[in-house]
Amino acid sequence: MPDLITLLPKAELHLHIEGTLEPEMMFSLAARNHVGLPFETVEAVRAAYEFTDLQSFLDIYYRGAAALHTSQDFEDLMWAYLVRAAGDGVCHAEMFFDPQTHTERGIGFQVFMTGFARARERAGRELGITTGLIMCFLRHLGEPAALDTLEAAAPFFDELIGVGLDSSEVGYPPSRFQEVMGRAREAGLHVVAHAGEEGPPEYVWEALDLLGAERIDHGVRSESDPALVSRLAADRIPLTMCPLSNVRLRVFDRIEDHNLKRLMDAGVKVTINSDDPAYFGGYVADNYRAVQQGLGMSDAEMSQLARNSIEASFLDAGMKAQLLGD
Ligand code: ADE
Ligand code: ZN
Repeated sequence: MPDLITLLPKAELHLHIEGTLEPEMMFSLAARNHVGLPFETVEAVRAAYEFTDLQSFLDIYYRGAAALHTSQDFEDLMWAYLVRAAGDGVCHAEMFFDPQTHTERGIGFQVFMTGFARARERAGRELGITTGLIMCFLRHLGEPAALDTLEAAAPFFDELIGVGLDSSEVGYPPSRFQEVMGRAREAGLHVVAHAGEEGPPEYVWEALDLLGAERIDHGVRSESDPALVSRLAADRIPLTMCPLSNVRLRVFDRIEDHNLKRLMDAGVKVTINSDDPAYFGGYVADNYRAVQQGLGMSDAEMSQLARNSIEASFLDAGMKAQLLGD
């Protein structure tokens, strides 16, 4: 019997497709493409997933993503995620991808966009799930590289709903990315940004005021700035939170310490997501369950969180009403 959490219709809004690469698939892709891996076994890969902070994770995540080479690899990766997400009751997924992780290795947009398009089309047909793609810029590579990436992506703008900002946070403030995000907005793309994961509340202010971010990815560190919490609540800016990620990357010591419920109680539109589920030990329903147990939240609160996810999506009002049963 599926539990309440599985049955709730929900959207996943913070999911890095490269972060869904399970070790088993890493090995099968390496064998198929005749390339080596820096690990001997699936168990050795999992054993390496002991993170001390965001950077310690990113170092391993970028190495894992190097197992992806062909359109078929990207299609298989996204299809496996969408099957898994549909099983968790996800009816709409807005997925991040990191083009620079691939273009830096000589793999062009045509390769991954073809694979993504095939997986998304199949998911619509066979799983009845709608999808969107958000292209993220790697902040550690700086704005000139982000501008080149936006230009390279231009032929594929029709396949994107938005752009985002991810990778190492501290030392790479959103203010450095105003030009590229401004250009993306002019092209009609939505703007979101990772901010306040490890970085200070100032980065969240900058994402809102300088980049025009419509959602903040993570945003947990906003809590230390009451004026910012008021702003997020007043303007109904969604936070796409990823509780299991935050524990694995030591943003919070334990799930019981997570501030999701406090921010929700303060009127912030909070959503639950999985970030990089292959690395953090759980897909989206696992995140909902961990939060419900760890923070002692009611079924009604879980239902509200699922509603928030649909309301915070970039679907049009008609689709939102349909999914919400309004
Ligand atoms: N890329 C993949 N996961 C990320 C995260 N949690 N923060 C920043 N960049 C990421
Ligand atoms: Zn993320």
